[in-house]
Amino acid sequence: MSNLEKTLSIIKPDAVERKLENEIKNCFINSGFVIEKEKKIQLSKEEAEDFYKVHQTKPFYNDLCEYLSSGPIIVMILKKDNAITDNRKLMGATDPKKSEEGTIRKKYGISIDKNSVHGSDSLENAKIEIDFFFKN
Ligand code: CMP
Repeated sequence: MSNLEKTLSIIKPDAVERKLENEIKNCFINSGFVIEKEKKIQLSKEEAEDFYKVHQTKPFYNDLCEYLSSGPIIVMILKKDNAITDNRKLMGATDPKKSEEGTIRKKYGISIDKNSVHGSDSLENAKIEIDFFFKN
């Protein structure tokens, strides 16, 4: 049975700055994802704080929000069967040093902060995150 899902993906400032946008998009496309919508934007610090508010009690919250708002990002709605789980597999572990060979973070990530991509971690958060960027 099919389980068509949508997930929110972000190509983060470190990857956009290194002109990896097309290479990373090809990783998604070659793994069967359809990019349903996309846009290039730069968030303000306040918008980044709102987006990452689930992490507001974490010690890395301020740096995380400074970083996400430090340059342009590409936000995308990715669609495929089991998109949420499959995207997390394709991205690899949060810390590039711990991620598996062949994953996006292994290939392109620089550090746990500059880990090149974000992906929704659950169906519930995917809906919230898609609305955050694409609800008019
Ligand atoms: P992301 O999937 O975008 O979600 C939250 C981000 O916080 C995560 O990727 C990391 O880039 C960043 N981060 C920084 N430090 C940590 C940490 N110690 N544990 C988890 N995430 C961290």
